[in-house]
Amino acid sequence: MNKTKGIILAAGRASRLFPITYAVNKQLLAIYDKPMVYYPLSVLMLAQIKDILIITKKEDVKSFKALLGDGRNFGMKISYAVQKKPKGIADAFIIGEKFIGDSNCVLILGDNIFYGENFRGKLQKAKYRNEGATVFSYPVHDPERYGVVELDENNLAKRIVEKPKKPKSNLAVTGLYFYDKNVVSIAKSLKPSKRGELEITDLNKIYLKSKKLHVESFGRGFAWLDTGTPDSLLSANNFIGTIEKRQGLKVACLEEIAFNNDWINKVQLNKLKDKISNGPYKDYLIKILKK
Ligand code: DAU
Repeated sequence: MNKTKGIILAAGRASRLFPITYAVNKQLLAIYDKPMVYYPLSVLMLAQIKDILIITKKEDVKSFKALLGDGRNFGMKISYAVQKKPKGIADAFIIGEKFIGDSNCVLILGDNIFYGENFRGKLQKAKYRNEGATVFSYPVHDPERYGVVELDENNLAKRIVEKPKKPKSNLAVTGLYFYDKNVVSIAKSLKPSKRGELEITDLNKIYLKSKKLHVESFGRGFAWLDTGTPDSLLSANNFIGTIEKRQGLKVACLEEIAFNNDWINKVQLNKLKDKISNGPYKDYLIKILKK
């Protein structure tokens, strides 16, 4: 079994959120009670991926480092790289070439939020598929905003199109992608699209052509949220707030996941708790320590 590494792509201009994102990286904005990047990072942690590269803009590396450091606190390894210009999502594999080496690689977009039952199971299934690529589909009312996948009668991917004007299905491709070790060389073979980007959809098309693109589906009981506009940002905040208040459980509490993964022990968790000032987040960690 090949090792799997993880990349979080957190560069981009986030111009649809101006002026909020003039001076602050979108992925550092709050989603209810924690920074946005906690959510994609928690997904990689749930997939048991410990070695992670965060790709961001030069001016934002310092802030991400201040927030997450080298990952040691959570028993992981986090490193950082810069994307100078928003050249496209598939550019992440060219920037991450050295980091990836000949490992498998999971890419998650820094602004994607996932929440739902048996998520860990779906992640494990994709991870242990050692060859090819896995993407996740999700039904949406506005597929023209996304990469869209069409399935055949056996639920296998037939076609995948980026932002189609007339979508043939309502299944969006979410911003979570699992690839085998060939991803870097395939990314390098891509040409920029009309909008001047190395498209993740073009990369997925290459896997599809060689019959190596798997599609897992998230059903209607699952939540996939993006945060590209002020409205979707507000919805994501409300969604996480509602779930957390109702259940008394936190979504994407990194300390809790690291502890449950046995990456840190009680003594280490206690130290992390002591770093946080009094308030609900600290109270939550105290509750976990008492279990
Ligand atoms: O959210 C899922 C969708 O993400 C997929 O369905 C599409 O197939 C995929 O192309 C992408 O759609 P967008 O074109 O709308 O992605 P956007 O430009 O909004 O970028 C998504 C995130 O990735 C955002 O947080 C910024 C970051 N990003 C994007 C680009 C193009 C970068 O960090 N660097 C980049 O060069």
